[in-house]
Amino acid sequence: MRRLRRSEAMRRLVRETHLEPSGMVLPLFVCPGEGVKREIVSMPGNFQMSVDEIVKECETVHGLGLGAVILFGIPASKDEEATGGYDADGIVQRGVRAIKRAVPGLLVITDVCNCEYTSHGHCGKIVDGDVDNDATLEWLTASAVSHAQAGADVVAPSDMMDGRVAAIRKSLDENGFAQIPILSYAAKFASAFYGPFREAAESAPQFGDRRSYQMDPANGREAMREIELDLEEGADMILIKPAMPYLDLIRQARDRFDVPVGAYQVSGEFSMIMAAARNGWIDQERAMVESLTCIKRAGASIVLTYFAKDMAKLLG
Ligand code: PBG
Repeated sequence: MRRLRRSEAMRRLVRETHLEPSGMVLPLFVCPGEGVKREIVSMPGNFQMSVDEIVKECETVHGLGLGAVILFGIPASKDEEATGGYDADGIVQRGVRAIKRAVPGLLVITDVCNCEYTSHGHCGKIVDGDVDNDATLEWLTASAVSHAQAGADVVAPSDMMDGRVAAIRKSLDENGFAQIPILSYAAKFASAFYGPFREAAESAPQFGDRRSYQMDPANGREAMREIELDLEEGADMILIKPAMPYLDLIRQARDRFDVPVGAYQVSGEFSMIMAAARNGWIDQERAMVESLTCIKRAGASIVLTYFAKDMAKLLG
């Protein structure tokens, strides 16, 4: 076997998996103000950015040839009803409009969820101490339609309510957005690896946790059932999230479903590599390349990753 490993030229010839900027999506956090570019302490190199700064960032991203950006919003204020999430003049809606005006060729995905907009930090409407499924669907459909009206190319629901894909599909169609695809976070687990994101998006739940709606990390068959249901409801593409602890499920999804399969290398996966690298315990560039290559080898054709820009630069 070692004959084919003797030089980089030989290894390159027989390499089975290649990374490309077009398959990578960069998550961005848009916040109020002007000229704001605040680094997220636990996610070095990532920022909360005001609309004008996001536009500049998107020009760079487009130049690097990345597949898309996915936008998360940090509203000026939060309330019980998540109104900032479906406000036509909300922070994500303004961000999308500005990006599409300045960089029309860049694909813009929006994350559809309520946790960034609720004062309690949960992903939906609280009734009797828990998130109410069907009441939450109304907020989600309103958000998705408002994102499409602002010019989003793809909407990506990440809330894990039952029936949200069907509800969003119906609302998009009724409002003249039959052409807008849904990228569903079909199998999203209640994960410890979202920690840094919750600092970035200021969205940590103020009581309890998300285990009554996000999946139990122990359940792989249930993940396939979630994907199956989302596809029946009209999802065009699906995501597994997080990525690296769930490579088995990425592979199973790739083998079972003939739709584009994506994976989200989440904040905690990114921050662990960065923290270890900063301590001199791991080589940042090699860990980045290896983690992304293996997520792709497992079967993901689309990878959401905070390394998207660095990886694209490395690929030249
Ligand atoms: C919103 C949402 C979360 C992430 C993406 N969308 C946080 C959560 O569910 O708590 C996490 C992404 C990351 O950690 O990078 N529901």
